[in-house]
Amino acid sequence: MSEFFRRKSIASLTDQKAPDRLQPTLSAWHLVMLGVGAIVGTGIYTLIGVGAERAGPAVILSFLIAGVICICAALAYAELATMMPTSGSSYTYSYATMGEPVAWMVGWALILEYTVVCSVVAVGWSGYAAGFLDWAGFALPVSLTKGPWEEGGLLNVPAMVIIGLVTAMLLRGTRESANLNSILVVLKMLALAVFVVLAFGAFDMANFTPFSPYGFPAHVVEISEGVSADRGVMSAAAIIFFAFYGFDAVSTAAEETKDPGRNLAIGIVGSMVICILIYSLVALSAVGSMTFTQFATSAEPLAYILKTLGHPGSASFIAIVAVIALPTVILAFMYGQTRVFFVMARDGLLPKRFGQLSAKSGAPVTVTVITGFICAVLAGLLPLAQIAELANAGTLMAFIATAAGLIILRYREPDIERPFRAPMGIATAILAIIGCLYLFYSLPAGTQIRFFVWMGIGVIVYFAYSRRASNLNHSNARSQPRMD
Ligand code: ALA
Repeated sequence: MSEFFRRKSIASLTDQKAPDRLQPTLSAWHLVMLGVGAIVGTGIYTLIGVGAERAGPAVILSFLIAGVICICAALAYAELATMMPTSGSSYTYSYATMGEPVAWMVGWALILEYTVVCSVVAVGWSGYAAGFLDWAGFALPVSLTKGPWEEGGLLNVPAMVIIGLVTAMLLRGTRESANLNSILVVLKMLALAVFVVLAFGAFDMANFTPFSPYGFPAHVVEISEGVSADRGVMSAAAIIFFAFYGFDAVSTAAEETKDPGRNLAIGIVGSMVICILIYSLVALSAVGSMTFTQFATSAEPLAYILKTLGHPGSASFIAIVAVIALPTVILAFMYGQTRVFFVMARDGLLPKRFGQLSAKSGAPVTVTVITGFICAVLAGLLPLAQIAELANAGTLMAFIATAAGLIILRYREPDIERPFRAPMGIATAILAIIGCLYLFYSLPAGTQIRFFVWMGIGVIVYFAYSRRASNLNHSNARSQPRMD
């Protein structure tokens, strides 16, 4: 191992001394709820329509493909998170397996993922909230519900407000937030269950013909004169992927978890399995209930389907639950974001003050406030569609790094204690890597370019600041770097 790819030892990841270590307060139940809270959001409530538009009824295959890739990645996360129960998720695993430059790039991609997901969900929430206020007789001017790049928009105020509220909750401390999160998650699952029961009532096999109008691979199709759009089962899978992730936010809570060896595996795999089951039912019942073209372009497809099927009361229930419960997704991702920042600062790759904890709540205050501010600015200004795919690109990079980390450690450290072993570990990790690469390839070219530009900036920041400021650099100046 060369000095360039200096690594942390696995032992060093778990021996942080207080007050640098976060307090363990979270149970297995909290973690499953944190996972489901982060996973079930804009993806299933809104992007299911975009997916159906791109793939037709074959969107159920897109769900299946994205789900299988995510469960493979989740198993790799569970193995590494239980081996290295420390905040930082795939960033930390990469630090111990592939070295600092790779870890930095993964951390940089995670910053993109978590920030952009918070902003995407806040903008999606704003759409529901504006509709709700309109219904209640407090209509906001359009200019205050959309960003400046959308027609008639100036600033998306509701999106900024919800980010502000979630930031305030996180500043009060983890456990309170996690308990409230559990209540909202139950509500969100209840709304999906109501949808499945009612939509299945109208199930008709005729709605599955033609099954796959645009074929399998992602490709650009001219949908009307001069207007092109991405189509195909894989193009839908590349956007539907957004609906599945969030379990990785669980692994960032590792340091705050009681009995992490057991609870992290339950939290990560459990939340993923629950979501795959409910998503399969939602997708099947949605596509079976009417011709996909009817609901594909709706901004609130699940509520639209129920309204059209003659269940206006249940449609309103789903819409209200979306307003109340979508913030759980923002909560989980912002929580993950602050923990990744916190750990990168503790490692010296970001300024140290990001790692300071509040004596009262135990929360990393500075980093929480900075994260909230950046998310709010992005949510206030940016349009939804393109940034959702950008978040996917960052997530795919983190998944690939984690799966690669599993393979490396299985060979390099075969005998180290693994509280959870991913079944068929190497094959599972290889499947996750190939699947993620194929999903990345299926993203629009513009998204791929934006992602590489962000990563290019990351390389510059690393060599201009982080590499010199790194703790490993300082320990190296005194002695040899800690390497396995
Ligand atoms: N999986 C999360 C959502 O769908 C990001 O909102």
